[in-house]
Amino acid sequence: MTIECSRRVNRVTPSATLSISTLAKELRADGADVIDLSVGEPDFPTPAPIVEAGKTAMDAGHTGYTATTGVPELRRAIADKLAEDGLGHDPDEIIVTPGAKQALYETIQTLVDDGDEVTLLDPAWVSYEAMVKLAGGTLSRVDLSPFGFGLADGGLDALAAAISDETEVLIVNSPSNPSGIVYGVEALEGVRDLAVEHDVTVISDEIYERITYGDSPPSLGSLDGMADRTVTVNGFSKAYSMTGWRLGYLAGPSSVIEQASKLHSHSVSCATNFVQRAGIVALEDVDEPIDEMVRAFERRRDLLVDRLRDAGVELPRTPEGAFYLMVPVVGDDQQTCENALADQHVATVPGSAFGTPGYARISYATDVARIETAVDRLLKTDFFER
Ligand SMILES: Cc1ncc(COP(=O)(O)O)c(C=O)c1O
Repeated sequence: MTIECSRRVNRVTPSATLSISTLAKELRADGADVIDLSVGEPDFPTPAPIVEAGKTAMDAGHTGYTATTGVPELRRAIADKLAEDGLGHDPDEIIVTPGAKQALYETIQTLVDDGDEVTLLDPAWVSYEAMVKLAGGTLSRVDLSPFGFGLADGGLDALAAAISDETEVLIVNSPSNPSGIVYGVEALEGVRDLAVEHDVTVISDEIYERITYGDSPPSLGSLDGMADRTVTVNGFSKAYSMTGWRLGYLAGPSSVIEQASKLHSHSVSCATNFVQRAGIVALEDVDEPIDEMVRAFERRRDLLVDRLRDAGVELPRTPEGAFYLMVPVVGDDQQTCENALADQHVATVPGSAFGTPGYARISYATDVARIETAVDRLLKTDFFER
């Protein structure tokens, strides 16, 4: 007998990255020297003061449930951080979640009804599509690849053409996974104008906000006219190298937070108690290790971009943040990435997973020597479009 599963889950297909990671695991198990440029987590340890704070909190007995929306001290620390970014959220307009992914899931479940239109800027992080489909929403996707993945030079016009009064929600992710593009002030103001004109609610996923190599543009919700229509999502995974700790948050107007809290309480109850306490230390006492990590990422980005451009690979734009870049690849991107893994033992993610076929995402959350070797291997074959 086959148990019939819900139409909701059947709407979602397995991630296109799955076949790559399965193949990578198989190759590794066979003893192959696989270089994994598909990873989405920093290759740095969690800074020691954060680890210590977690241990101390456990020893002190902070092992029970917390208030659903998070321990007050952490929500206060997040509110202070957001205030520095120009966002005026009270602690009770914040929900602490087990990871930004849960924050996005709750936000989308709270905002999107059956048939509601949600706009994505492609290339877009893989889980937005699945989350919108699970909520019953429909997708309108704006391909930013002709505009160097950015909103300047025509990108904003493409967005303007896609947004209408029918649009319920727009998801913005800057710095972007997978392109590494950071939207500048003008671009963000353009987004704001469209959101206001068409009365659209914006989810601003700022999880890579600490990892930028040039200017750090403002938080979208801090722009005039945006406070009432923005839900800001952020987390500790990328900035503080805390992927496995699972800690993130959403902050938004109290009407949204009240509804999202219900989902939160009926699903996860709360984020892990001692992890939340470690999060306070991360926000209040840890800067230097983050700056060091960002400088290391920047050196790797420079190395990659220089090597690829020297080899004749046309990169639309130098990424200004996160730790990814999109490269044009020959032929069918899924097949090309699978071939690169099978033949060269280099794992990358096909661009079609993010809505932009013809590209692959390279993550540089790997040390310089491995990146160099991976590039050598890929340049030997027909991988990059040149
Ligand atoms: C754009 C983006 N948003 C959100 C997340 C979720 O991060 P986490 O749930 O680890 O906080 C990720 C993780 O890869 C991401 O790349």
